[in-house]
Amino acid sequence: MSIPIIEVKKLKKYFPVRANILFMQKEYIRAVENVSFKIYPQETVGLVGESGCGKTTIGRMIVHLEQPTRGDIYYTGENTRRFRGKQLKAYRKKIQYIFQDPYSSLNPRKIVYNIISMGLRNFHIIKDNRKRKEKVSEILEQVGLPPDYLFNYPHEFSGGQRQRISIARTIAVKPDLIICDEPVSALDVSIQAQVINLLKELKNELYLSILFISHDLALVKHISDRILVMYRGYIVESAPSASLFENTSHPYTKALISAIPEPGLDAHKGRIILKGDVTAVTGEIKGCCFEDRCYMSRDICKREPPLGRQLIPGHVSYCHFAEKV
Ligand SMILES: Nc1ncnc2c1ncn2[C@@H]1O[C@H](COP(=O)(O)OP(=O)(O)OP(=O)(O)O)[C@@H](O)[C@H]1O
Ligand code: SF4
Ligand SMILES: [Mg+2]
Repeated sequence: MSIPIIEVKKLKKYFPVRANILFMQKEYIRAVENVSFKIYPQETVGLVGESGCGKTTIGRMIVHLEQPTRGDIYYTGENTRRFRGKQLKAYRKKIQYIFQDPYSSLNPRKIVYNIISMGLRNFHIIKDNRKRKEKVSEILEQVGLPPDYLFNYPHEFSGGQRQRISIARTIAVKPDLIICDEPVSALDVSIQAQVINLLKELKNELYLSILFISHDLALVKHISDRILVMYRGYIVESAPSASLFENTSHPYTKALISAIPEPGLDAHKGRIILKGDVTAVTGEIKGCCFEDRCYMSRDICKREPPLGRQLIPGHVSYCHFAEKV
């Protein structure tokens, strides 16, 4: 197998929240806990879990917008912690980020040409002005926008079109990996599928890898080769996309799947309703991170953290009773 584009090993991120002056103790939010995974060339990996589980923090650590508390990130086998100067700049070019909100992520004072060509200029990819303009027109067409939009401003476009411009800006610099952080959740459902299909096409045309972050498992299923399910900073299940649905091995994943509405079915029929809410993310977790909401919980779950077990090749679950899910 080829070398992964990105490998994260035992990544942790604790955010300090407040100090307990009485006991001279600091308190932390455990945003990411011991997360490890690999993304191979031309692979789309979905990262799914409810709001606040740590998805964005992982993405931000990969692009060095956030410093890990512990753990390492490897780019094609090299530890990115040591990257400085030119090497860091080259890394930043190869790993691109698309944000959720296409309204605030594009500079409103710049025309489309300047937005897309910025990377080409900054990274000295094309120095000649005429050639750069040709290239930008070509990229616009690639993302399904007419080249005569070059001199328009972001406010003149719809949400879907703006997200196409964000995608154009990232592919212009020929990345290896695009981290798409909830790229369609601000868009109408009818537009979402178009943007997802565009990402799929570009992935094949440009040999890209994608880390697709979303709280919506139904969306993630459409685009991902492999899916990582996160809960309160932990990966609780990781599997090839089809296997996650066919051989679900974690109660949390099961609850997420049962929440996907099926046309023609009673909205609550067969649904697993989660107890409680995702709140307690500070302090020690002794046993399983999902214990207080799990409908299968037993005594051992309170005491011992479940270790990852591979039940079928490539399919790992962090549940003591994975076989019974
Ligand atoms: N800079 C920060 N300072 C303090 N806490 C933070 C910071 N950034 C994130 N957090 C906390 O870390 C946890 C994980 O946040 P993160 O944004 O990674 O979650 P997420 O899965 O992306 O959520 P969403 O689906 O809402 O985008 C949350 O509890 C969040 O409040
Ligand atoms: S280890 Fe226990 S609490 Fe955790 S998911 Fe499995 S059954 Fe539920
Ligand atoms: Mg997020």
